[in-house]
Amino acid sequence: MCGIIGYTGNDNSVPKLIEGLKALEYRGYDSAGVAVFSDGGITVVKAKGRISNVESKIKSEYDSLFSLCGIGHTRWATHGEPSDINSHPHGTQNLRLVHNGIIENYIQLKKELIEAGYTFESETDTEIASKLIDLNYISTGDPFLAIKLSLEKLQGSYALGILFKDFPGKIFATRKDSPLIVAVSENGNYIASDIPAVLKYTNKYYQLEQGEIAVIEKDKVTVYDIGHNIVEKKLLVADWDIDAAEKGGYDHFMIKEINEEPAAIVKTIRPRIENGLPCLGLPELSDDKLRSFKRINIVACGTAMHAGLIGRTAIERLARIPVNVDIASEFRYKNPILDKDDLVIIISQSGETADTLAALRLSKELGAYTLAIVNVAGSSIAREADSTLYTWAGPEIAVASTKAYTVQICVMYLLAIKLALCNNKITEENAKESLRVLLEQAPEAAEMALKLNDECRRISDKYKSAHDLFFIGRGIDYDIALEASLKLKEISYIHSEAYAAGELKHGTISLITDGTPVIAICTEDALYDKMISNIKEVKARGAKVVIICKKGAVGAEEVADDVFYVPELPGIYMPIPTMTVLQLIAYHTSVLLGCDVDKPRNLAKSVTVE
Ligand code: F6R
Repeated sequence: MCGIIGYTGNDNSVPKLIEGLKALEYRGYDSAGVAVFSDGGITVVKAKGRISNVESKIKSEYDSLFSLCGIGHTRWATHGEPSDINSHPHGTQNLRLVHNGIIENYIQLKKELIEAGYTFESETDTEIASKLIDLNYISTGDPFLAIKLSLEKLQGSYALGILFKDFPGKIFATRKDSPLIVAVSENGNYIASDIPAVLKYTNKYYQLEQGEIAVIEKDKVTVYDIGHNIVEKKLLVADWDIDAAEKGGYDHFMIKEINEEPAAIVKTIRPRIENGLPCLGLPELSDDKLRSFKRINIVACGTAMHAGLIGRTAIERLARIPVNVDIASEFRYKNPILDKDDLVIIISQSGETADTLAALRLSKELGAYTLAIVNVAGSSIAREADSTLYTWAGPEIAVASTKAYTVQICVMYLLAIKLALCNNKITEENAKESLRVLLEQAPEAAEMALKLNDECRRISDKYKSAHDLFFIGRGIDYDIALEASLKLKEISYIHSEAYAAGELKHGTISLITDGTPVIAICTEDALYDKMISNIKEVKARGAKVVIICKKGAVGAEEVADDVFYVPELPGIYMPIPTMTVLQLIAYHTSVLLGCDVDKPRNLAKSVTVE
């Protein structure tokens, strides 16, 4: 989703803005632009398409553009198609502004601004915000007051970076429900949507809170609350280094990140085992508190929600506590039934997903206890939840989530073991053994799965021309199928669906015709024979079947066109190596089809609008 960068300092801001925008590319965008102070005014360069189009325009129109202060933006279209005109920055002779989020009352505001004499060239809600600030600036002559008065009228979500012509060298910034950090370095200061955009220069930053207004100068950052009182901010240090946000010799971020899974599992799990037993490191979430929950709700979007499905299976099987899993965008509008006996687990890689954040806030309002599982430190979800368990996967840059999913499910296993122990559903010995599997065998199995890379590419090559592809499974294999299908379709654009194998006869089997590929995930021992029956049914209707199973699966080779053996782990842990393999198959399919693996069309990494 939209990305914001800004710099003021001793260096030319233009290359820094371009680099920052490139580092934000992964969030997804369809146009880009920059605004910098120059020649006593503000110069704006923006273009539809790739950031390189902005670079070319700068070269051809300005020869060499030099400025010590500027802002930049990658736009993911919401209001108005991707175009030069709709790209940010927007504004007037007085100011230029970049925006991430959605102004919900833009129609009403536009009407008022037209009455005040403004005209509009773009279809964006952002231009309206810029002109509202302009109106208030003209009447007050004070940037702070202009922003403050405008915030009182703006409804929706926003992170804003603003340059006022009369205040060269200063960037004004504010946010509500969209992420924005202020990063500091010896050579100047930055605003950015997230840390990877500035990691090349600094890992020190302030987190802007809702409604705070920051004034960023080359050697000073001042943050005010809405009453114009200075706020003392805590300087945070990101423990990510620049290598983590670069490809490091791999062709794509996605394959790099899949390869990081074994290490990410160890990094996430090892610190949470003490004397062989699970230790969440959350003093506020005592064993008594954990025992008090009658129900568990897991709420998330996309891949994170699929990690929640694995979590549900693990918690229900190990701890015997009933678990609901909801898509955040559904949950927030369904008038959910929650009270103090409910634990709501919120899963999010970015910690900024708009629907997931709204679901968290709603759950708190309704009196439930909220536990977030988040990858990005200091993100909104991490800060607002009652407790937060971080997944320490490092930055995930590819739009398609891979290593974040793997560590999310590992944290869910850890939690399931902890809940089971607290509720006397397993013994300490069982818990120790399960944690040993998680810490030692799981990374090894993921490592072995990575060695199947060539075999995965062969399967991808064989089925890459498919029009439709189905994934089927039962039990935890159905949870895996849902994620495998999402991974394949989002980056290869092959239409794919996942079905509970027992459901095929209730409709879907009519879609199976001669040659339709079906990937059957068969790692559940207790359900294996049932799966074979379902596989035979699709085979009888012409399907080409790939079975993904454990070594020694009886009869697999007789019924399938291809059999793919995944490294073995005890029962509920099989999703770890199985998903690594299925991620590799999705990856190679995308590469073989010539798709933009890391930045699939229409998608954004951090979905900060609902
Ligand atoms: C798909 C993918 C998305 C995200 C979803 C939630 O590969 O990455 O489905 O899982 O947008 O994002 P987070 O986890 O940041 O809340």
